[in-house]
Order: sequence, then structure tokens, then C-alpha cells
Amino acid sequence: MTKLAERRAQAEAGGGEKRVEAQHAKGKLTARERIELLLDEGSFEEFDMFVEHRAVDFGMEAQKIPGDGVVTGWGTITGRTVFVFAKDFTVFGGSLSETHAQKITKIQDMALRNRAPIIGIFDAGGARIQEGVAALAGYGEVFQRNVLASGVIPQISVIMGPCAGGDVYSPAMTDFIFMVKDTSYMFVTGPDVVKTVTNETVTAEELGGASIHAVRSSVADRAYENDVEALLQMRRLVDFLPASNVAPMPDWPADSAGGQEARDFSLDTLVPDNPNTPYDIKELIAKTADDGDFFEIQEAHAKNIVVGFGRVEGRTVGFVANQPIVLAGVLDSDASRKAARFVRFCDCFNIPIVTFVDVPGFLPGTAQEYGGLIKHGAKLLYAYAEATVPKITIITRKAFGGAYDVMASKHLRGDLNFAWPTAQIAVMGAKGAVEIIFRADIDDAAKIAARTKDYEDRFLSPFVAAERGYIDEVIMPHSTRRRVALGLAMLRGKTLENPWKKHGNIPL
Ligand code: HXC
Repeated sequence: MTKLAERRAQAEAGGGEKRVEAQHAKGKLTARERIELLLDEGSFEEFDMFVEHRAVDFGMEAQKIPGDGVVTGWGTITGRTVFVFAKDFTVFGGSLSETHAQKITKIQDMALRNRAPIIGIFDAGGARIQEGVAALAGYGEVFQRNVLASGVIPQISVIMGPCAGGDVYSPAMTDFIFMVKDTSYMFVTGPDVVKTVTNETVTAEELGGASIHAVRSSVADRAYENDVEALLQMRRLVDFLPASNVAPMPDWPADSAGGQEARDFSLDTLVPDNPNTPYDIKELIAKTADDGDFFEIQEAHAKNIVVGFGRVEGRTVGFVANQPIVLAGVLDSDASRKAARFVRFCDCFNIPIVTFVDVPGFLPGTAQEYGGLIKHGAKLLYAYAEATVPKITIITRKAFGGAYDVMASKHLRGDLNFAWPTAQIAVMGAKGAVEIIFRADIDDAAKIAARTKDYEDRFLSPFVAAERGYIDEVIMPHSTRRRVALGLAMLRGKTLENPWKKHGNIPL
């Protein structure tokens, strides 16, 4: 064996056969196996395979392992360049040392300089305990680069094992975090420390498993069944994303069903006659997106709003839609935060936003108010208002109160604002309005019914808004995809700039 082949084999062996077997026994792939699945076949070009950690005490000198617990490099996904680093749990538990951090920051710098997405795969035990401050400094360098790259190149984190201590904060600053069910968990401090400090007994899964972060905390954007599914879905996601904030939108072949000529008459009966009967807004998204292909973000969290990527005529759009089958599509703090972050991602990367509105308002009550609904709701308002990307909004049914304004209304620089004939736009629903205005008649059912009908006729129709130009046109549901496709084509040359500022001050 030549010297080079020998060194390569040594690096590729990672922490050795036994540790690799243990990794497989847990249902996890190794760092190199993961990269191979993520990237186009044979496209991986590795950096720094022979880097070793610097001499430290605590018995590590005897165990220098080339690569130092992280595999880094670049390759392609469907022919487009991406940078990648994957922590190797078989080497010192994937923990971060000074040299390990330098390998990651080199890749971060390369990705930023070359304006291409970066994907980090995490399976690690935090700071290399033997290194102390050198490891902490390494994290700081990684974090700083995460922040500088934010909004310039897409940054994606995939959690495929333990992710503790310093390892959680780099993913937290990236655009998306994905987890694998049952084998991955994220927490700042693990169950043992929790027990010591708070006397709370909790398992790793209960503290920071995918079932917590993809559903409850919303730290994770989605969870997948296993490593293979997660990595294949990352390939799918990258296909939707531009390489950077100045790169052109990926332009895939348009779907065979056509865009600007499309008509789907099944949509004419999507909205039920009874305004309180729910329907699934995802059907409308599927019938608007090419081939019904929709990559949903945070599908298990705040399900009363649906966000994710699709394509129209081969080009990426971000869909945001109130979901009538969950809490009647009401906006609460979680839904507002979820959608605000998504809208801002789209705006960073020039992805047009298509918004479907069916919202009865903001959720009333002490739980929401005490939890800061005003501030969280304002996030979505702020995000839509600052966004300069093409914005197309379609009101399918209710658009009540402040939620009407917030959901990409004309007043927040909506480019094209359409309404279906079933749309109802008002300060509130007819019954609530009449019960306030005509409180004296509350016991007279006939009077209230007549007033309610009168209110519906006079205020709820989409034509009231259309008469003022707040709605550009009342369209038939079957022509939605056609109108969206036409609108996006027209808006391709849109230029709109916000006044110069260092940065805004979004309510956090
Ligand atoms: C050095 C580490 C390590 C670490 C694990 N290993 N974590 N080596 N530094 N941080 C090594 C172990 O010694 C072991 O080596 C191998 O990795 C696998 O670890 P196991 O414990 O056998 O695996 P498992 O049972 O699966 O448990 C995984 C784990 C646990 C939950 C991650 O190892 C663990 O709790 N590690 C410590 C986590 C931690 O407290 N990190 C510091 C966080 S503070 P051998 O040779 O036996 O295979 C931090 C501060 C940064 O990160 C803050 C910046 C903001």
C-alpha cells in the first residue's frame, strides 16, 4: 500500500470497526455513508482528510485520528454545488476540538465565498472536553460565520444523533433544522444535568427528541423516519432553493398539466356552503403547485397555518395558507411565528410568496395574551410588510379583523390580491358584529337574523373590497393556478426596495 493509500484508509476508518458497528447497531449511518447518500454519486470532494487535533493532555495524544471527528468537503445535488460537513460520532463522539472547528469554518468560508448552500450533519457530544477553551473558541468562530452567512446562502442542519451543548447553537442559527425520529435529540443540557439542577427526571427523548422539537418547541422543521429518508428529503429541499440571495431561481421543466392554461373545476366546490364547515387548504396548494409537489416546513407544529415550497411553471414559490381544518385556521402566537420565519426566508432568497387566506382572526384569550400574542402576531405582520418579493394573495373565505391586514393584504404591498366569490372580508363575522352593534335586540332572534343577513349582504362580500381596489379581481376558484402562473410571470421583473437601514428591528 502506498503511503497515501495507507493514510486515506486510516482516515476513512474513522474511530474503528467496533465504533462503526455500534453506530450501525443504533440504526445510524456513518458520516461518510451519509455524505454519499446526500450528494450526487461520486461527486464528493473532501477537504482536510489528514487534519489531526493538536497535542493536548488527558490521554488524547495516543489517539490522534486523521480527520478529527468531522468529514468536510463539497459536491453536487442534482448537479448544483453544495458544501457539506458531517460529524463523525465514531471519533471522540464527534466532539468539537480546535482543529475540528477549523475544518468546519474553512467549509463555511468556502460556501459563503462561492455563494452555495451549506449542509451540516450533526451527531456529536458538544465541546471536546479535553480541550477546554480552545473548543469553546472554535464554536464561537462557527457561530459568527453562521450569522454572517444568514440571508446570503441557505444553511441547513440535519440532526442525526446526539446534539448537545455547543452543537445546538450552530443549527439554531441556520435556516432549517431537520431531525431523525428516535435516534436524534437536541438539548443545551442533558438529562443528567437537568436532574442535578432541577431534580426533574426526564429521558433524552422527552427532553429533546424529534417528537418534542418537530411538534412542540418548533426548534426542528421536520422529522424523518431514518437517516436515508432524511438525506433524500434534503436533496429534494435543495432542489427548491436558489444557491444564494443573488443567484437565479432554479428553473426546472414545467409540469405537463400546464400553468397559464390550467383550469381545475374541482376547486369550485372546495369551499363548503356552510361558512363554519372546514376544508383542507392543502388541496388548494396541491392543485396550484406543479405536480402537486409540496415540501412542507414545520408540518407537525402550529398546524393552523401551512407553509412550504412548491413550484409554479418550474420555478420555486413559497406557499403560506391558513388551515381551516385546524382551529378554524385562526392565527395564534405559534402560527404567526412559524409563518413569519418562513416569509422572511422566502424574502431573503427572492422566492415569491403565494398566500391563501381563510382566517377568522387572532385567537382571543388570556393564554394567548399572556404568551405575547401581540408581539408574535406582529412578527408575521412585519415579515409580510418588509418583504419585497412578488406577493400574490387569494382570499378563499374569511379574512376578518387584523388577520385580514396581516395576511399579505394590498395594504402591505401585495402585488396581486384576488378573492374567490366565497370570500368574506370584514372586521368580524356577521353574527359577532350584529351582537355587538345591536346588543339591545339580542333576545329578539328574528331581528338579529335579519340584521345578520343585512350585514352579510352589505359588508361581507368580496366586492366591497374590490370596489376600493383592495382586491384586484374576484376570480373563479378553478382558475387559481392559471392566475397565479400568469401573475408570477408578470412579476418576474419586479423591483422594489425598502429604505436603506442597517437592519430593521423586528419584534423578537
Ligand atoms: C470528548 C467525547 C465527548 C466530548 C463523547 N465523547 N462526548 N469525547 N468530548 N464532549 C466520546 C466518549 O468518551 C466515547 O469515547 C465516545 O465519544 C462515545 O461516547 P459514549 O458516551 O460512549 O456514547 P453515548 O452513550 O451514545 O452518549 C453520547 C453522549 C455522551 C450523550 C453525547 O457521550 C455525552 O453525554 N457526552 C458529553 C456531552 C457533553 O457534556 N458535552 C459538553 C457540552 S458543553 P470512546 O473512546 O469510549 O468511544 C459544550 C459547551 C459549548 O458543548 C458551549 C458553546 C456555546
